Amino acid sequence: MAFQRVGILSIGEMGYHWARLLASHGVEVLTYTKGRSEVTCKRAENAGARSVPSMARLVSQSDLVVSVVVPSGAKRVAAKVAKALVKAGRKDLLFLDANATSPMTAREIERLLSPASAHFVDGCIIGSAAKVGKGTVVYASGPQAARIRALEESGFSIRVLGPEIGQASAFKIVYAGLTKGLQGLFVELLIGARKFGLLDEILKQYEESFPGLVGKVASSIAALPVHAGRRAEEMDELNRTFHHHGLEAIMAPATQKVLKSIASLDAGTASETGERTGNLLETLELFFHRGLLQKKD
Ligand SMILES: NC(=O)c1ccc[n+]([C@@H]2O[C@H](COP(=O)([O-])OP(=O)(O)OC[C@H]3O[C@@H](n4cnc5c(N)ncnc54)[C@H](OP(=O)(O)O)[C@@H]3O)[C@@H](O)[C@H]2O)c1
Repeated sequence: MAFQRVGILSIGEMGYHWARLLASHGVEVLTYTKGRSEVTCKRAENAGARSVPSMARLVSQSDLVVSVVVPSGAKRVAAKVAKALVKAGRKDLLFLDANATSPMTAREIERLLSPASAHFVDGCIIGSAAKVGKGTVVYASGPQAARIRALEESGFSIRVLGPEIGQASAFKIVYAGLTKGLQGLFVELLIGARKFGLLDEILKQYEESFPGLVGKVASSIAALPVHAGRRAEEMDELNRTFHHHGLEAIMAPATQKVLKSIASLDAGTASETGERTGNLLETLELFFHRGLLQKKD
């Protein structure tokens, strides 16, 4: 049966597109914005989400609560939800963490939620926010994972990976390593090409050698002025996951370094509607003029 009311924490770019898709299928979307930025509050309003006055209200009224924040906020959100559940005396809440976090973080979230007897689903999202309901897939794992299939009735694409908490997180982390790795590599090489006056020529050659590849990464690069900080956090989750399993990631720390350098330019303004603007060439030009990768001596 479809969910009637879904709580979303928070209405960032992904939350916005979830809220819009749910609302278009008649699902009421609730959110809690205390402590959130002005742009997030505005986005919640634009998405048609109802802001409730307390977290206790959100967890009491929702059939499902979805966490789509930044990786560093995932545990904090789960802890607040757990506290609110105890306060509200609610025992059976279905809680989906769909953030790009490590499997260790997912298991910590499970521990945080267990005193509140919530039903935890480890999840992740593959595909862009704008394509939710149009190709973007929500992966889930854990004993309760199949229950989020009810989102299919609201236009979501759901795939269950397995019965263990941590499977969906590990899957996302490995996937994120590829997408963010490509973004980092392309930014570095294209800034170099721009410096050498060969940008158009190398883009043509990349297209000839790897048809469609630059096009596939271009819109993600254009989103870096806004999302580089969050994506750098994802690479940190990847590093920690490898380390936890006795492996040493070499590419991910390098990607994280490029993404952190971009985030430090502070060159982006988040949109109030979850829309993305800009294109590859404009973004590269912006990075170039802000001195990205410029040696400081
Ligand atoms: N965007 C995509 O295309 C995409 C694709 C795949 C997966 N995802 C996943 O979706 C999640 C969200 O991504 P996004 O692009 O929507 O990020 P985003 O646009 O940066 O939005 C993050 C939202 O989380 C809020 N937030 C940050 N810390 C919080 C906390 N401690 N408690 C509550 N809310 C908090 C932010 O509020 P403030 O404005 O107040 O900071 C903002 O509303 C990420 O885990 C990401 O891996 C996104």
